[in-house]
Amino acid sequence: MDVLSIASEVYPLVKTGGLADVAGALPGALRHHEVSMRTLVPGYPQVMASFRRGREIAHFHDLFGGPARLLAARTSGLDLIVIDAPHLYDRGGGIYVDDFGQDWLDNWARFAALSSVGAELARGLVEGYRPSIIHAHDWQAALAAAYVRFSGDTETRVVVTIHNLAFQGRFGSDIFAHLRLPAEAFTVDGVEYYGGVGFLKAGLRLADAITTVSPTYAREIRSPGAGMGLEGLLVERGADLHGILNGIDVEAWNPQSDPALAAGFAAANVKKRALNTRALADRFGLDDGPGPLFGLVSRLTWQKGIDLVAENIDWLVSLGGRLAVLGSGEPHLEAAIAQASVRHPGRVGFISGYDEVLSHLVQGGADVMLVPSRFEPCGLTQLYGLRYGAVPLVSRVGGLADTVIDANAAALDAGVATGLQFAPVESVALGEALQRATVLFAQPEVWARMQRRGMKTDVSWQKSAGQYAALYTDLIGEQ
Ligand code: ADP
Ligand code: GLC
Repeated sequence: MDVLSIASEVYPLVKTGGLADVAGALPGALRHHEVSMRTLVPGYPQVMASFRRGREIAHFHDLFGGPARLLAARTSGLDLIVIDAPHLYDRGGGIYVDDFGQDWLDNWARFAALSSVGAELARGLVEGYRPSIIHAHDWQAALAAAYVRFSGDTETRVVVTIHNLAFQGRFGSDIFAHLRLPAEAFTVDGVEYYGGVGFLKAGLRLADAITTVSPTYAREIRSPGAGMGLEGLLVERGADLHGILNGIDVEAWNPQSDPALAAGFAAANVKKRALNTRALADRFGLDDGPGPLFGLVSRLTWQKGIDLVAENIDWLVSLGGRLAVLGSGEPHLEAAIAQASVRHPGRVGFISGYDEVLSHLVQGGADVMLVPSRFEPCGLTQLYGLRYGAVPLVSRVGGLADTVIDANAAALDAGVATGLQFAPVESVALGEALQRATVLFAQPEVWARMQRRGMKTDVSWQKSAGQYAALYTDLIGEQ
């Protein structure tokens, strides 16, 4: 079965968050299910530099304002189709934002182009290649559903995956004329959204199936709040909405062979982690301490509950804990963490920025991974934490609720706890969980059991890849 994945980022070529990890790992995981997945990606400079030779398989004289070529290339185990369109993708700054953090003004064109090329491929643009399914990730690819439907293509099935409803790709109605969609597409049953154009909304309206990245988030988004305005539509499409939990790439994230670690380790010799904890403390300028070393690797944003962490830092330190933060994001949150590191030298360390290698050391060395998100479609850092013996402390929302078993008395007795959960997502509840973690950490046997259990939890793609494969098969069967 041929599936074309459309993704605006894919690990290891270009990544701003978990979407890249998922888009990068899924093709490999699906291979075991007889699904051949190619990935359509924008030709950002990082992507163009990732392969030596691409084979031109199509070209456009005018793809949203300039000439473009499609290149087939293989790299990092991925079978790519790259859109080489310099006027859209060859620029400095971020992949979605400029150097000042502002969305690129032509993002609508950049991602309409991505989506429309996907639909054209499904219609047979390239001889010998005709995917039966398009799997579009997030708003950047969701418009593919509209390009498929309004081109009269009744064969291609489209799956839209929601990784984060907070990003919807909403634009003014003025762009509609440039999308090259028929006038009839501008209705509530098409791309129209509150008078403007909604890329994700269009995808959710028109896709054959919608998935999101955890069962709990799939439920949450049918209600106001988590639904972010799209709850009505999601309720309507309820029968076609599935929650399929993310996995992680257990090869790229393997504590036994990870070159980023000071010492490799497995569940059987989890004590060796201490060498990584020492290395981590060194990197973040932290003293030794009897309490747990809390790690945080995150975008520093409201979604991720970073303000709640900032409010709890003095408390965390008073409990004997230490904190290592790797991340970047909203300036006031960066400032709050930076100030705390000045207030608590040797106890709180902050490295601002994005550092893939260092993120592995945090997972391999921290005693606890903090993930106090206000909402979390799935979350990957708690999964890396489980695999690396960094006990996750998470808010009870979305995929966090689905992947971590709270160390309450019953779960500890039953021997099933893998981490700590707190609710509601408020400062006081987080504070209590930090204290609970500290108390458990002071019981080395209890703690080690929890670490080992987490490390044995199946966080691979195996089960979920099977669910995607079954969904694709169902969709094709419906034809
Ligand atoms: P989201 O996609 O919402 O940011 P996820 O937990 O799904 O959240 O994925 C985040 C991914 O980005 C993880 O792979 C995490 O390790 C990585 N990450 C986040 N911030 C940083 C950082 N500052 N340096 C390195 N990796 C980071
Ligand atoms: C989004 C979500 C995150 C999820 C990731 C990959 O960025 O915020 O929870 O893990 O996508 O699906």
